[in-house]
Amino acid sequence: MTVYLNGQFMPIEEAKISVLDRGFIFGDGVYEVIPVYSRKAFRLADHLRRLQHSLDGIKLANPHSNGEWTDLINELIARNAAEDQYLYLHITRGVAKRDHAFPNPPVKPTVFMMSNPLLTAPAALLHSGVACITAPDNRWLRCDIKAIALLPNVLLRQMAVDAGAAETILIRDNAFMTEGAASNIFVVKNGKLLAPPKDNLMLPGITYDVVLEIAAANGIPHEVRKIGVAEVFAADELLLTSSTKEVLAITQLDGKPVGTGKPGAVFAKLHKLYQDFKRDVMRQQSPLPPGEG
Ligand code: PDD
Repeated sequence: MTVYLNGQFMPIEEAKISVLDRGFIFGDGVYEVIPVYSRKAFRLADHLRRLQHSLDGIKLANPHSNGEWTDLINELIARNAAEDQYLYLHITRGVAKRDHAFPNPPVKPTVFMMSNPLLTAPAALLHSGVACITAPDNRWLRCDIKAIALLPNVLLRQMAVDAGAAETILIRDNAFMTEGAASNIFVVKNGKLLAPPKDNLMLPGITYDVVLEIAAANGIPHEVRKIGVAEVFAADELLLTSSTKEVLAITQLDGKPVGTGKPGAVFAKLHKLYQDFKRDVMRQQSPLPPGEG
C-alpha cells in the first residue's frame, strides 16, 4: 500500500511521524474519508469543503489549495491497485514541545493520506439489515468538525460490538437522535423519510446529502427536522449511511425488531436508486480538473 506523508509517497511501512506530533499527543487534528468509484474521487469538492470547515473549526490553516489536494488525491488513487477505494486524509497541527496552547510561531502541519480498497456490504447483509443499539450522545458540542479525537466515538462503537450489533445510535439529552457513532441515521414513518438537521451536533455526511437528493429527485417524501427519541423507537424503518457503508437497513434496535424486522420498502427503493446513481453518475463523473481551485 502506497501512502502519502508530508510531501512524499512511500510504502506504508516507511511512513513515520514524531512522538511529539500533536495528533499523537492531543488528538489535535482533523480528517476526511472520501470514497472512490472506478478511480474517481466522489464529490471531491464537497469533501474538500467539509475539510476546510473542519480546519476552520480548529483554527488550522489549510496546508494545500483545492488544486493541490486534487493533484495529490489523484496521484494517491493512481498509485493504489483497487478500482474502488476509500481515501483517508489526516492533518494535524504538527510537531512541537508539549503545550496545550498552539505552537507559536505555528509549525508545519503533518499531512497523511492512505487508501484502502472500498468493499461494499455483501448481499446477505443487505438482505438481513443490521442490528443497532442506542446510547446517550456524550460527545462534545462540535460534532460538525471531523476531528481525529474520536475516543467517544470509539467507545460508543465498541458498545455496539460488545452487544453483537453494528452501530450505536446516539440520543442527545435523552430527547432527540443525532447520528451514529460513525454514520448518519434516517427514520422512516408512514412512507416519509426523516433526517435530523445538519447542525453542530452531527457530522454533515456527504452520503446523507446524496440520499436526500435521491429522495427529492424520485418523489420520495422527506423532511429534515429534529427527530425525537420516541420517533426512533416507533419507526417503520431506520437507515444508516456513510461513505464506506453506503445505505444499510437497520432491522433491530436494542434487541427489538424495527417495523417488520426486515428491510422495508423505502430502504429497497433508496438502495436501488443509490446503486443506479453509483453506476450512472459516481463511476462516470470527471474528477475536479488538476489545478482547479
Ligand atoms: N465516518 N457521522 C459520523 C460521526 C461519521 O464518522 C461519519 C463517517 C458519518 C457519515 O459521513 P459520510 O457520509 O460523509 O461518510 C456521519 C467515516 C466513514 C469514518 O470515520 O470512517
